[in-house]
Amino acid sequence: MPTFDSPEDGTTSNTLVFFVNGRRITEQNVDPEWTLLTYLRKNLRLTGAKLGCGEGGCGACTVMLSRYDHERLTTRHYSANACLTPVAAVHGLAVTTVEGIGSIKDGLHAVQDRLARAHGSQCGFCTPGIVMSMYVLLRNKSLPSMDDIIEHLTGNLCRCTGYRAILDGFSSFTGEFSTKVCSAGVKCCRVKEGGGKTVQNVKAEDGQNGHSRNGTEECVQNGKGAFVQNGCSKFMQNSSEYVDKNIYKTKVSNSNGDICIKGHRDYEQSGHSDKMRSVLNGDKDEICDVNGTVSQNGYDDCDKMRNVLNGDNDKICVQPVTGIASQNGHGIFQNGHGCDGQNGYNADQNGQGMTLNGHGGIDQNGHGTYGQNGFGHIKQNGYKDAQNAKGDIQKTAVKTNGNTSTTNQIIENGIKGSVKENGTMESKGLHAPSWAPYDPTQEIIFPPELKVISKRLDSEMLEFKGKRVVYYRPVSFPHLLDLKDRFPHAKIIVGNTEVGVEVAFKKQHYPVLINPTRIPELNTTEVLKSGVRVGAAVTLTELQQLLTRLVQSHQSHLTKNYTALLEMLKWFAGQQIRNTASIGGNIMTSSPVSDLNPVLVVAGVTLTFTSLGGKREVVMDEHFFTGYRTNAAQSNEVLESVFIPHSKQDEFIRTYKQSRRKDDDIAIVNAAMKVDIRPESCVLSNLKLAFGGMAAKTLTAPRTMKELAGSKWDETLLEKGLDLLLEDLPLQISAPGGMVEYRRTLTLSFFFKFYLSVRDWLSTRAPGLVTPLSTAELAIAAASSDNHSGYKSSSQHFSRGRSGIRDANYPVGQPFVHASAFKQTSGEAVYVDDVPHREDELHAALVVSSRANARILCIDEQEALRMEGVHAFFSAKDLPGERNKMGTLVHDEEVFARKEVLCVGQVIGLVVAKDQSTARLAASKVTVLYEDIGTPIITIEDAISNKSWWGPWTIRKGNLDEGFNRATHILQGEMRMGGQEHFYLEPNAHIAVPRGEDGEMEIFTSSQVPTGTQMQVAESLGVPANRIVVRVKRLGGAFGGKESRPLCASVPVAVAASKLQRPVRITLDRQEDMLVTAGRHPFLCRWKVGFTSEGRFTALEVDLYSNAGCSYDVSAPVMHKAMFCIDNAYVHENIRVTGFVCKTHLPSNTAMRGFGAPQAAMFAEEIASQVAAFLHMEPALVRERNMYKTGDVTHINHILERCTIQRCWRQVIQQSKYNMRAASVRKFNNENAHRKRGLSVTPTKCGVAFDRILNQAGALVQIYMEGSVLITHGGVEMGQGLHTKMIQVAANVLNISPESIHISETATDKVPNTSPTAASISSDIYGMAIVNACNELNRRLKPYVTSNPEGQWKNWVWAAYADRVSLSATGFYRIEEVTDFDFEKQSGQPFHYYTNGAAVTEVEVDCLTGDHTILRTDIVMDLGNSLNPALDVGQIEGAFVQGAGLVTLEELRYSPGGALLTRGPGAYKIPGFQDIPHEFHVSLLEDAPNPLAIYSSKAVGEPPLLLATSVFQAIKSAIGAARADQNLSPVFRLDSPATAERIRMACRGPLIEKVNKKMESDVASTGEPWSVTA
Ligand SMILES: Cc1cc2nc3c(=O)[nH]c(=O)nc-3n(C[C@H](O)[C@H](O)[C@H](O)COP(=O)(O)OP(=O)(O)OC[C@H]3O[C@@H](n4cnc5c(N)ncnc54)[C@H](O)[C@@H]3O)c2cc1C
Ligand code: FES
Ligand code: FES
Repeated sequence: MPTFDSPEDGTTSNTLVFFVNGRRITEQNVDPEWTLLTYLRKNLRLTGAKLGCGEGGCGACTVMLSRYDHERLTTRHYSANACLTPVAAVHGLAVTTVEGIGSIKDGLHAVQDRLARAHGSQCGFCTPGIVMSMYVLLRNKSLPSMDDIIEHLTGNLCRCTGYRAILDGFSSFTGEFSTKVCSAGVKCCRVKEGGGKTVQNVKAEDGQNGHSRNGTEECVQNGKGAFVQNGCSKFMQNSSEYVDKNIYKTKVSNSNGDICIKGHRDYEQSGHSDKMRSVLNGDKDEICDVNGTVSQNGYDDCDKMRNVLNGDNDKICVQPVTGIASQNGHGIFQNGHGCDGQNGYNADQNGQGMTLNGHGGIDQNGHGTYGQNGFGHIKQNGYKDAQNAKGDIQKTAVKTNGNTSTTNQIIENGIKGSVKENGTMESKGLHAPSWAPYDPTQEIIFPPELKVISKRLDSEMLEFKGKRVVYYRPVSFPHLLDLKDRFPHAKIIVGNTEVGVEVAFKKQHYPVLINPTRIPELNTTEVLKSGVRVGAAVTLTELQQLLTRLVQSHQSHLTKNYTALLEMLKWFAGQQIRNTASIGGNIMTSSPVSDLNPVLVVAGVTLTFTSLGGKREVVMDEHFFTGYRTNAAQSNEVLESVFIPHSKQDEFIRTYKQSRRKDDDIAIVNAAMKVDIRPESCVLSNLKLAFGGMAAKTLTAPRTMKELAGSKWDETLLEKGLDLLLEDLPLQISAPGGMVEYRRTLTLSFFFKFYLSVRDWLSTRAPGLVTPLSTAELAIAAASSDNHSGYKSSSQHFSRGRSGIRDANYPVGQPFVHASAFKQTSGEAVYVDDVPHREDELHAALVVSSRANARILCIDEQEALRMEGVHAFFSAKDLPGERNKMGTLVHDEEVFARKEVLCVGQVIGLVVAKDQSTARLAASKVTVLYEDIGTPIITIEDAISNKSWWGPWTIRKGNLDEGFNRATHILQGEMRMGGQEHFYLEPNAHIAVPRGEDGEMEIFTSSQVPTGTQMQVAESLGVPANRIVVRVKRLGGAFGGKESRPLCASVPVAVAASKLQRPVRITLDRQEDMLVTAGRHPFLCRWKVGFTSEGRFTALEVDLYSNAGCSYDVSAPVMHKAMFCIDNAYVHENIRVTGFVCKTHLPSNTAMRGFGAPQAAMFAEEIASQVAAFLHMEPALVRERNMYKTGDVTHINHILERCTIQRCWRQVIQQSKYNMRAASVRKFNNENAHRKRGLSVTPTKCGVAFDRILNQAGALVQIYMEGSVLITHGGVEMGQGLHTKMIQVAANVLNISPESIHISETATDKVPNTSPTAASISSDIYGMAIVNACNELNRRLKPYVTSNPEGQWKNWVWAAYADRVSLSATGFYRIEEVTDFDFEKQSGQPFHYYTNGAAVTEVEVDCLTGDHTILRTDIVMDLGNSLNPALDVGQIEGAFVQGAGLVTLEELRYSPGGALLTRGPGAYKIPGFQDIPHEFHVSLLEDAPNPLAIYSSKAVGEPPLLLATSVFQAIKSAIGAARADQNLSPVFRLDSPATAERIRMACRGPLIEKVNKKMESDVASTGEPWSVTA
């Protein structure tokens, strides 16, 4: 056997060679500890890929890896998480990052372009990763299905958008989209060419002109695209009526005259050129639509199109297109695109060609359309003649549509809608403005040089020696075995998805790493007669592909094991993980929640282990796993392969997995069950049951398996099996993971499902012997995951450009794309950690407390300081006295804990080192000794019993006693609502740069409160605030989490930078960020309500308790807002609400979207639904009977003016067909025992304002002498589109194009004393400040306008400049009406106005597992006259989905000692792509201008989140249906979030009774629980 020192094949190299975006990278002895992401970002300065979590859970770092396969002569492209991929592992690979596929300068890729235009990017931090996931999919499948898209995006998270817009944008690449929009179906040229080009153009114009999807669909399907495309508002206004799908019967008109369309054949028969020209030239000739015949003729040849246009009779293009063309000429443009798919943007040449052919109409109409809205695109897309076109457009468009054109780069609206008679725009779903075409043939190619050298690179043995780690990549099996023999504790890494996480977060150190991916024995698969042998390093994606092939090619009775594995793999992690993780890695990790291991165990696989000593075969059974993450392999052995046998005729196998989130989540409990049963007798001969999540290792159920063998498959077996399983699968009350009762119940639920499935199978094999399943039983027998089919459809309805309010030509009210969207999709948008490193910059890492409520005995930093590259350690000793104090409203926090620590995660010190990894490692070497002071107070209940709180505060109205006396019924109850992690995708990052003199410092920070940072840093450094400049370019999400808590890191970094006089940077890792910065306050509500038999409230008494954590922060204002909003939408004559802010030993909770209002709304809706349940009434009726109307007075004495709650309510009920669906839900529930549906409608009234002092805003508007305008205001852009709206506002007031206006950053030296960007109010206040500044500038410019009325903006500006007039102005605004609420006097006006809305949600729950699915949500929101309806719809959807996460998935768990256990995306689940409503409809209320805010708009950021109460109440209603079947009380408690665990437990049922009975008798059921609820 050859030894390691004498490799048999290839040479040993220490040079890493790979390609990035086509460029060759060569690196000697690369550090094996570096991830690809670090290398890309730090060494190559490619910052498009982001670090969102570092653990493979968010997808922000997604890149494409490509490998050339010399044997098959093909290239494999796959997505990967750069944060887990060791850079050493990409030897011989081509890496493509988001920068490599397109850029603003060189042109965007279609994926980037369409995502931006579809409004799929808000803060943009997730965006490059999402772009890359989609890009990789297209590289492998140019015409994917919607299912493909969802599957490939499951490894990506977005916290802002609510996903709908992303999916809609990407749906334009699908086959469904093509076939949906063109009746030619798959024969459509777009389909053939794979790119949807015609569609793009149709929709582009459609979008530009504001046409609905309906319109578009019909148009395109029926050849009416022309209407949509061109002109269309006019057409629509003139009531072109769709009579049937093919023909417009009525006359329609445009500026070209009447067009009467009748049957179309004669069009084709009679030669068309003249008619075409006539029409296009505006004649009144009758023409024909060309549907039908023409469409059948295919579209291959653009020339044919030209021929037609020239009068030839040739058969021509796309049927819809043709129709369009004939009508208006726009189709011609479209045809150009459609036909010319292969040539990409040559399309415009066709357009030109058409024009040359005399179709003046085209120019007038076609280009006009573009001109109105899309010059940016046109330019981007290479329309060289845009200027000319624009001229025509202006002429025609103004005449036709009453719109002028603009040439602004941000004004490509992505939401289409049809312009209706009243001039409002209705938008429905898919949007396709002038999208960049997708042409798979034009993709970047695999680097030719790499193709040539990759064979050599693949055969090289690699050895990279880092400081702490050596990395080997052997190329032959003997080498691998030799290495493993020499280094038995070496880690074999394939995907590194397990080891990478252990190193990054569990601080494991593995000095020797061995990569086996070039070892043929471990990477091949072999299909044998009796099964399949899979190399251990085969990736899960490759395994999926292999198994799929086997299932397709083999008889079904042989492939049941494979089907079972495929079912499990479907729910296994995200695509990026599956692409790199290996089957061997999963087995050898031996995780107790491994998804594959239970299946492999019941499938009876055999593992081949090889060492220098030889081979050994091990059956993977209950003996293989020996303990927590240990197994029977020996340390010098390598897992070579896995043999998976074929199944047998009489075998039946099923898998089950229940996790918190549908996709990309580890299991709470999983199981695989297999039975070998003889159909003639229905007696089972063999039963195999394996479970994950029930112990420290994968378990089987030996007694159950043994005792049931030989039994008949009937109810007796079921009962016996359930009892035996309880014996086989005990669980200590303190078991890691908690949820003990639930997990035990799940094992029974799975078995019950299995029982039904087997019965179903038997009923077909042995008819007569077993009773077939009823429909209801069939539904429940299906794996719970079967209902996870995901997003299906959506619509968005809104208006824009109302006359009388504003000129429709002006930018305000237009659905412009987010101003940074294109930069975000191309990865060019700069976030704090993307700022280039300065030469002398250092990196910092926090040292935080691991104990709560403890005394610090000593801090020992010596070991850390001894490490090479460590510069300094800072702690409280560096900040004397008050300079160490901080806090938002009260200075009750310390920058560095001095004597005591209050919570786990409190900052104790800061290590500064040469780079980030050294700083982090050094921080872990700082030892702190503690002495416990006392039992920490963790929960609200702890705080109540210790009377540990701030407050209480009380609001009173009416006479409570009298109210209760008047009540016919009184109910009381308690409800808890858990906290929420902000989970902004961009973790906190700050850079402090000393300026070298006078104590000056510049801080680049991810903070929502630049002034707050400035003040605190100045205070801690002991300098005046005028020495500190804080700059914020943009945030990758914030949601309130970046208001006060970033100070925990930014102030220490500023201290370090000041002391060292060098720039210092810190970027928190995800888990640290979650631990230190905390989140939304958990609340407990104790309520007592009096009401009449009609359900009218007579009295309400509420005590609210919040868990503030260890400092005051903004907890009191959060509580106050909850108290102000406790009425939600209901009149309470007699009410008393009291708020207690509990002080506990948790990290300080803080502001989060809604700021107390979501909790209040939740409790208000809970009370309403409990009253309804008690009265056996429809909850909607109770809500309606108590609902506010205009003129009502709230419990804080606010008279409601223009109250639109009832309008929203009525509209959403109507739009959602609530009553009809309520009947269907009842029917469904009557027919199903274990699946239940719930339907709920809830309203909201969310108060808008800051505390009085913060209701102020400043802006600076500067006009440069050549006419460009720079705006700076105090608000921060964090994805909500604030800057975009502000540009629209300024453009409106200055009456200039938005493209002349730029916003660069928020900076405290430009606009001082900024209020936090929070409370949804920034557009209101900064918009008005900008209006004021612009008005002042208009005043100064007026003389020059008056003296030169024919002049243009640039002339006036220059004239003013030449006349020495100041061209910069500040603006200021404050809201006068708002006053703080005085609890003593019970008076004040804390809100300026209210944003109202209502939502209807329907859900389905699986009563056996607790799984839920949101089937449909309808929302109607009153946003006044929206400043930008597209952005506002995005805010509504994003907030709603974030709210849905709050009330369902997102659960924070703490150890009894106060440590946050649910850190990082692996443990804390925000909604993913599959968690959004399958149908999602959003409408903005029409005709509801709000005179109190800018341009009659309303605040939007927070209010829609409150509508997630509809999700919770729908779930509760479904549970209620399950309980009704058991005659349980309809009044029951369900705390939020309604996790799978809570839903299952609330559904009750006999399985839970069994578990409870067992637990009562179990000694193991006592002890300290693993976690507590704060
Ligand atoms: C975001 C994320 C989501 C995940 N989701 C899931 C999920 O849904 N279900 C699930 O079950 N798991 C999940 N995992 C866990 C993980 O992906 C799997 O365990 C994966 O299969 C590990 O494979 P790998 O190649 O990446 O292992 P690596 O990290 O490369 O190695 C893991 C271990 O296996 C050993 N090893 C690997 N190959 C061999 C060999 N041939 N011989 C001997 N030892 C070997 C290594 O030494 C190491 O100890 C997830 C992980 C992440 C990061
Ligand atoms: S940063 Fe890589 S997955 Fe989150
Ligand atoms: S846009 Fe997706 S996280 Fe912000």
